[in-house]
Amino acid sequence: MGNDLTGKKVAFLGAGKMGGIILQALLKKGLLSAKSTCATVAHEERAKALAAKLKVKVGTNNVEAVKGADIIVIGVKPQVVEEVVREISGHLTSKQVIVSVAASVPTSMIEKNLPPNIPVIRAMPNTPCQLGAGMTAICKGSHASAEDVAMTCRMFDVVGRTVVVDEKHMDAVTALSASGPAYIYIILESLAEGGVKLGLPRDIATLLAAQTTMGAARVVLETGDHPALLKDAVTTPAGCTIDAIMELEEGKLRVTLIKAVVKAAQRAKELAYG
Ligand SMILES: NC(=O)c1ccc[n+]([C@@H]2O[C@H](COP(=O)([O-])OP(=O)(O)OC[C@H]3O[C@@H](n4cnc5c(N)ncnc54)[C@H](OP(=O)(O)O)[C@@H]3O)[C@@H](O)[C@H]2O)c1
Repeated sequence: MGNDLTGKKVAFLGAGKMGGIILQALLKKGLLSAKSTCATVAHEERAKALAAKLKVKVGTNNVEAVKGADIIVIGVKPQVVEEVVREISGHLTSKQVIVSVAASVPTSMIEKNLPPNIPVIRAMPNTPCQLGAGMTAICKGSHASAEDVAMTCRMFDVVGRTVVVDEKHMDAVTALSASGPAYIYIILESLAEGGVKLGLPRDIATLLAAQTTMGAARVVLETGDHPALLKDAVTTPAGCTIDAIMELEEGKLRVTLIKAVVKAAQRAKELAYG
């Protein structure tokens, strides 16, 4: 499969939060046309509402949806992936590519429920994809080609950055960048509360916290400098930042964040199995 999406037909099985974000973004950016895109969900009423909103064909029949599709994006919950794959299995050819965004589900689990040689790719995006600021890690299964990987990268490049990793890293990716926005929202909210405690109006405190978070992240991405060096540049000797850092160290912020990512990765290993 070439890596150009023009003219490709794409079926999104499970257009919920994540599937819906990717689907909408690709339509909005013109990488897919409404005519060549279809989606499924579990409930009829939701299918109708989504079809009306996105102006694409949305139904509840996965077998119908995969007919004639070049790319099949699986966006159902991890525990439902196997059931959906079994359902469509008899209706696929090796010219179609499966792209699963489900956490925890190995490509081998998908492949074992498919006819031989169907290419499977795993992609792990995050919710900032909705603004084109997403982070997606991509890995290939046994039958996917470099072209299939390039095509998937091109699809997710439209909604942010992409990186190709070995499948053994996917649970770590899930714990860091897929769950990560939740950790950052908590940090951001807490920084804003600090401002509120000091008397700042909440909207201004939230703006200061959010723009500071984004600015610091951009500096890391654009300079490539080590975060520790960038932190040192803010920390004037005997200034106020070092007092704040002492509080963060006493509160074990670093080790708490490290342990949070490790815990999430442990849980990511189990999700597919119920
Ligand atoms: N949310 C995130 O930040 C995130 C990040 C990375 C990866 N993911 C992965 O994305 C997947 C979906 O997560 P989500 O948060 O988007 O969950 P979600 O909002 O609950 O979406 C799941 C969708 O699957 C549909 N569905 C359920 N059973 C189905 C079936 N048999 N056939 C077709 N559609 C079916 C549901 O339909 P109804 O709407 O009708 O119930 C719903 O639209 C998960 O595997 C998750 O690991 C999520």
